[in-house]
Amino acid sequence: MATTDAVGAPPAVEANIDDKKGSAQQIDPYNVAGEVDEQGNIKAIDYDRLIQEFGVQPLTPDQLQRFETVTGKKPHRLMRRKLFFSHRDFDKILDAYEQYGTFMLYTGRGPSSGSMHLGHTVPFLFTKELQEIFDVPLVIMLTDDEKYLYTRHKSEGVQKPNCHIPDYLSYAHDNIKDIIALGFDPAKTFIYSDYEFVGGHFYQNINEFESLVTFNQAAGAFGFTGSTNIGLIAFGAKQCVAAFPSSYPSLFGLPDYRAPDYPAAAKRRHKSLASIPTLIPCAIDQEPYFRMLRDRCERMTDPHPKTALILSKFLTALQGPGGKMSASDPNSAIFMSDSASQIKNKINKHAFSGGRESLEEHRRLGGNPDVDVAFTYLSYFLESDEELEELASKYRSGEMLTGEMKQRCIAELQKFVGAFQERRKEVSDEVMRSFMRLRKLEWRGNPNPTKPAPPASVEVPETNGAVAAKKAEKLEVRQKVDAEQGPEQGQGVDGQGT
Ligand code: TRP
Repeated sequence: MATTDAVGAPPAVEANIDDKKGSAQQIDPYNVAGEVDEQGNIKAIDYDRLIQEFGVQPLTPDQLQRFETVTGKKPHRLMRRKLFFSHRDFDKILDAYEQYGTFMLYTGRGPSSGSMHLGHTVPFLFTKELQEIFDVPLVIMLTDDEKYLYTRHKSEGVQKPNCHIPDYLSYAHDNIKDIIALGFDPAKTFIYSDYEFVGGHFYQNINEFESLVTFNQAAGAFGFTGSTNIGLIAFGAKQCVAAFPSSYPSLFGLPDYRAPDYPAAAKRRHKSLASIPTLIPCAIDQEPYFRMLRDRCERMTDPHPKTALILSKFLTALQGPGGKMSASDPNSAIFMSDSASQIKNKINKHAFSGGRESLEEHRRLGGNPDVDVAFTYLSYFLESDEELEELASKYRSGEMLTGEMKQRCIAELQKFVGAFQERRKEVSDEVMRSFMRLRKLEWRGNPNPTKPAPPASVEVPETNGAVAAKKAEKLEVRQKVDAEQGPEQGQGVDGQGT
């Protein structure tokens, strides 16, 4: 639960455990920490409780089956193994794809440093596969502005030597190159930095969305206080409306209202884009943003369908369950820039083991793969379900030792990171800019939709009567939302979203 001082709290892995004794688990965009009991033991993050608290839905075997029926493809290993474990309206995205053939994918990253770690790649690997399977457009937002504001906030407004806006732009560029090296298709992917891209219809959406959020609602959702800087308080609107296809008319071949042309006909945002649904694959700490978004999609001038989400767990820190990999603690994470020998040393020295105290005991009682970090990493990166199952059972029976599990993990991570580094070398500034250029994206979507007219082309001319009816309907939605949240009430993180 976000408390009022949540945003200033240090990351989980750095926290002084004595101060945290007896504290509940806390997950929000600025904090990821498991419960700490009275003795100071950090517990694993309780994802079932998060499902309850956030009011999201668990991903069910039926939905995985439906995914397979609709796409003809086996669900990604991250879904099969419940690492992407919950959602909002994922079924509606499958419906839209089946009927109209298309939707938009949106994800992002806050560039807080130049180097990405293994955990950061997880939502991107998953998104990349969704893009390949569905053949749909994808936008990736780099929130360099958010990270600048948050750093200023953490340092109580003081400008630190390494905290200038151009530094964050550079982090964004470095991160974009890393993301590209994961293998996205340039024809259907647009990647941007907020500092470079905000403007045009995107800014119209931001501004309108800002008008729908009160200070108390932002404070409730993110734990802001009266001394939070106003940039950070308003930031959520940017991350939210980035989910609207109408923020990116150029990607859909429609004019935007931007320098240097300002086409007069494009002063107004395109209604046709408002009906394209969006799916956001992301880690569950981002959910408070999108709960705020879903509550307001239908109150925009051109109402958007509620944005769908598919949510992942966190890749645990090397030290074990309860924290996540943190860029600010080099020993908690494997970085995408680590050499083969660094990977080997980090796993051997720091990876928490689910094995027993002594060899004899391990052989007799067996190990616990569920808390074993080497096994956990394999469950993210090893493709074969059969091998993973075999490793787990050999470990449980005591046949396989911690050292052997670590060897298998090291080999797999060295392979993944090594191949990444080879591709990363090829990503020049020019390649980076080719993904960041505004252009019409090319995708095909579902080749056989059942209702082929894409929702984007349904432009119904409005009569005065229709306008009046819509106004009344909107007023009703607004009154309903305000009644539920209270117009001046905090939108608590544990208040269930819709
Ligand atoms: N706020 C996110 C972060 O700090 C970055 C982000 C922006 C994002 N838009 C997103 C993440 C959409 C997931 C989905 O990392």
